[in-house]
Amino acid sequence: MSGQCACTGEPRLLVPDVGTIVDVRDETASGDVKTFRIALDDPQAEWKHLPGQCAMVSVFGVGEAMISITSSPTKGWPLEFSVKRVGRVTGALHDLHPGDKVGLRGPYGNRFPAEEWKGRRLVFIAGGIGLAPVRCLIDWCLAHRDDFGHIDIIYGARSPGDLCFKTDLFDRWPKEKDTEVHLTVDEGDQEWTGPVGFVPPFLEEIGPSPENAVAVTCGPPIMIKFVLQALARLGFTDDQIVTTLELKMQCGVGKCGRCNIGEKYVCVDGPVFTLSEIRELPDEF
Ligand SMILES: Cc1cc2nc3c(=O)[nH]c(=O)nc-3n(C[C@H](O)[C@H](O)[C@H](O)COP(=O)(O)OP(=O)(O)OC[C@H]3O[C@@H](n4cnc5c(N)ncnc54)[C@H](O)[C@@H]3O)c2cc1C
Ligand code: FES
Repeated sequence: MSGQCACTGEPRLLVPDVGTIVDVRDETASGDVKTFRIALDDPQAEWKHLPGQCAMVSVFGVGEAMISITSSPTKGWPLEFSVKRVGRVTGALHDLHPGDKVGLRGPYGNRFPAEEWKGRRLVFIAGGIGLAPVRCLIDWCLAHRDDFGHIDIIYGARSPGDLCFKTDLFDRWPKEKDTEVHLTVDEGDQEWTGPVGFVPPFLEEIGPSPENAVAVTCGPPIMIKFVLQALARLGFTDDQIVTTLELKMQCGVGKCGRCNIGEKYVCVDGPVFTLSEIRELPDEF
């Protein structure tokens, strides 16, 4: 958590620490997703995060956006954030370069309860930028590889150029013990020889067994809707399915009421929920 107030000693929940961008990497061919490695200028202010947690990243003079921490806690600082250019803040962030300053406050939200999944098979299902929070979790699980059973990583993007984290997908993860990476694209190109089609039918084609398994899914809402139906047909129960909710957020600390669904504040009680928990939320969601 960011530092303490000099007057009260309370944690400064809303005050960002200043960080420096140490590296920027294009994830997609079009450049609409970039990964930023950010170090805090004061190493004393560095905080620890858990897989699934986020931070508010601010561009000074523009604003701030809630972004998942995509690097595993096992890798420490600098932290990585993969950001899709959609509007004002993310656009301004995309225009920054290594050496530029940003603000960071966090870590916020709950976590994927991966330590409760020991001995179980893991199925990760993601689409597009939805792989960002899942990547943090995958790397955490791989750092504790012997704690888990077989791992399936099922990922899709609109085109081969839109697949994020290519080094992980093609080089790193397939080399891990008992780990399979399954990729699909909505539309191939001349070089793509892999599967073509949407993630939900692809998931059913692969057909991971629900026995002693946990499925984690993140991606566009329309993909999640059909992935949940596919998982149910494969025999996964609501308790075996974990996903994230991405409502618009402002404070990130349960104070502004921007992200509540009934009594739940997604920024504090989420963004990670089991499908059983989501089904208990009021209809307004
Ligand atoms: C818990 C959480 C984790 C997130 N993790 C990531 C991440 O890892 N990488 C990433 O690129 N983005 C992530 N987001 C989404 C990101 O916060 C928004 O894209 C960002 O705030 C947009 O800010 P902007 O000023 O660039 O866009 P704006 O100018 O505010 O908006 C541009 C367009 O995007 C829409 N929009 C803005 N915020 C959201 C949102 N949260 N959900 C859906 N539509 C939105 C607006 O309605 C508008 O149409 C996450 C959001 C949450 C809540
Ligand atoms: S973002 Fe303010 S209460 Fe959740």
